[in-house]
Amino acid sequence: MNYGVHSKNIETKIDLLFSEILQEQQKINSIQEGDEDKKHLIEGLLADFTDFRGRGFFYNYLSSGKGHGPFTQLVDGSVKYDLISAIGVNLLGHSHPLYIRAHLESTTSDVVMCGNLLPYQEAHQLSKQIIGQVKESRLKHFWFSGSGSFANDTALKMIWQNKAPNYKILAFDKAFAGRSVATQELTHNPAYRDGMPSYIEVDHIPYFDYQNPEESANITIAAMEEHFQESGPYAAIMMELIQGEGGFIYGTKEYYQKVLSWAKDHNLFVWIDEIQTFGRTTELFAFQMFELDKYVDVVTVGKALQCCGVLFSDELNPKPGLIAGTFNGSLVSLNAASKTIRYLSEGNFYGPYGRVKELENAFLSSLKALSHKSCRNKISYCGGIGTMISFEVGDSSKEITVQFIKKLYTNGVVAFMAGNNPTRVRFLLPLCLTDQHISEIISIIEKTALETL
Ligand SMILES: Cc1ncc(COP(=O)(O)O)c(C=O)c1O
Repeated sequence: MNYGVHSKNIETKIDLLFSEILQEQQKINSIQEGDEDKKHLIEGLLADFTDFRGRGFFYNYLSSGKGHGPFTQLVDGSVKYDLISAIGVNLLGHSHPLYIRAHLESTTSDVVMCGNLLPYQEAHQLSKQIIGQVKESRLKHFWFSGSGSFANDTALKMIWQNKAPNYKILAFDKAFAGRSVATQELTHNPAYRDGMPSYIEVDHIPYFDYQNPEESANITIAAMEEHFQESGPYAAIMMELIQGEGGFIYGTKEYYQKVLSWAKDHNLFVWIDEIQTFGRTTELFAFQMFELDKYVDVVTVGKALQCCGVLFSDELNPKPGLIAGTFNGSLVSLNAASKTIRYLSEGNFYGPYGRVKELENAFLSSLKALSHKSCRNKISYCGGIGTMISFEVGDSSKEITVQFIKKLYTNGVVAFMAGNNPTRVRFLLPLCLTDQHISEIISIIEKTALETL
């Protein structure tokens, strides 16, 4: 991208900086123990930080700002595999050349943040690219948001304005939609809105059940029919195609097509939350992988894109005044988003033979092998799709899973968990993993299982 000030001299210096930074970051290329005499640094800084924000942290983790590919370095000099990618953000991995380039290029512009009133070319460029990726659907517009939750709020407002005064929404059991006042109610888990008043009219319905795949669509549709009879009509159905908080639960193309056909026949807008799934399945969007292009009316994105927003149809384009806001985002994040879309769409990542599918196969086959051999009765369920992989350990309780992932962390792999009854170990993998990395990660999982379970 060529925005901001330019001269031969600036470009030469940017190229030099680019290679110097990359060469330095590339030195972080294997797991390491921390320095004994620096270990207290993380504890000290996190104790302060805990005071500042009023609560503690799950891991004893504080980044040094150094990392490369799947590796992240902590303040004490220790290096670990990062398989949670800031909960899905760093899809390309640490210090990816495109991220470094995006930073350096954006230094030539005159501001840090750009917004809706006086727009910048980065926002125009990114809007054009993202809309260009959904040509088979009715999605024609893109509006920037400051977070995934706010992208969902914007989608909800568009739906409500179009359907007023019919404000009722159907959402799914085990769904997660964000932390805003509205999205905490679309989220299924009541523990995430403890003490909150209720403002949104939302009913939760059963999702795909992998133990009963044939009947799942009928069960979901029967629940929708019951809600319609009792308290219909509804304005929209909101869906995460691969439920992250649920432990990566997803259905079949036939399931989604049946449920969404019913929804369309009953005049519901189809709202898909792709905040976690964007870029992580065998197509750029999960709705494309399940061939749902003709059903979707509004789709929210965030995380791996490096910025957030809403794609929506002409029909949902709101009246002036409803959506505005200060920021599109930082120039560097819009620049990184634009490079990310180009890299993902032009590289060999998607489709049945793309790298995403290879990563899925490599993890699932290795985890299954562990569960049948050395880790029999220690690792049970293994599942997930694309770069979203999950598995269950021990009795699949939250307590045992936390114990396992904390030990995994000590052994050099950062993961997180998802779901309740069962709780699963959750990976949001970076695309830069090599086969060699994967075999080292699998050995660490095996060692951790044998030590803790
Ligand atoms: C499916 C889904 N929707 C919405 C959100 C909320 O996004 P944010 O945390 O950027 O507000 C998340 C975040 O984890 C998510 O996974």
